[in-house]
Amino acid sequence: MFAAGERPLALVTGATGGIGRALVGRLAEAGMDLLLSARSGPALAALADTLPPGRARHHACDLARDVGLLADAALALPRLDLIVHAAGVHDSGPWEATDDGTLRTLLAVNVEAPTLLTRLLLPRLRAAQGMVVFLNSTRGLDVAEHVGPYAASKHALRALADTLRLEIQGSGIRVLSVYPGSTATPMQQAIQAAKGHAYDPDAFIRPDDIAAMVMAALALPRTAEVSDITIRPLGRPPDPSPAAGPATA
Ligand SMILES: NC(=O)c1ccc[n+]([C@@H]2O[C@H](COP(=O)([O-])OP(=O)(O)OC[C@H]3O[C@@H](n4cnc5c(N)ncnc54)[C@H](OP(=O)(O)O)[C@@H]3O)[C@@H](O)[C@H]2O)c1
Repeated sequence: MFAAGERPLALVTGATGGIGRALVGRLAEAGMDLLLSARSGPALAALADTLPPGRARHHACDLARDVGLLADAALALPRLDLIVHAAGVHDSGPWEATDDGTLRTLLAVNVEAPTLLTRLLLPRLRAAQGMVVFLNSTRGLDVAEHVGPYAASKHALRALADTLRLEIQGSGIRVLSVYPGSTATPMQQAIQAAKGHAYDPDAFIRPDDIAAMVMAALALPRTAEVSDITIRPLGRPPDPSPAAGPATA
């Protein structure tokens, strides 16, 4: 999967979130060492405790402010093979109600942080013939009402990932953007609560489904690169029970 030598190492931002956590589990299972990051130190320590001893380090940081410190922590390690940018923030509301604080935070966490972190760590990825994974969103491919700033941040991230892939072609580094639809995580739970909807995790993609797709891309031989993965909830078939009434054609 990566250059030979010691155990490969992955930096995962948003490691304690729904999608980040699923990826951490899969990467650890695949034998990678981990540098885990999020704002909450206690949540990171609790996550590290679930992994085999000695396999995970963690660095708490607010990506809206301290990206450089996280890059320094990663540069202090002997190698870096993979960056997974799973940290992200969401906001919804009408365009006319968008305040600059919200817009600034969305752009800082969803766009500036993954861009700057990748730039600072690119020499390590070059050395390892590594890979960078950007957790984007189907909102990076289309738009809907009331998600303007979030969709704008994800469109920007898509443009940056696609440009990076073009510019480093031939370096041996693979760049993957993942575009999930609604996924059963704390972020989705908050989105449903804000809409006043009940939260049913079974109605959404499981975070581990996304992690499985990323692992499949990682496992490809070095002759190929998966550049984009779009993954959407399948939706449920109609309830066939008599109580559900006759099926309509
Ligand atoms: N869930 C969905 O339906 C969905 C759909 C499409 C795309 N996505 C994208 O997938 C990615 C992961 O989403 P998720 O659903 O797993 O979210 P989540 O469960 O809310 O997790 C977010 C993670 O990011 C960290 N984080 C948030 N703000 C941060 C900041 N300022 N600095 C550093 N870390 C920060 C959180 O930890 P702390 O709070 O401790 O910092 C947490 O680990 C995001 O980019 C999201 O936009 C999600």
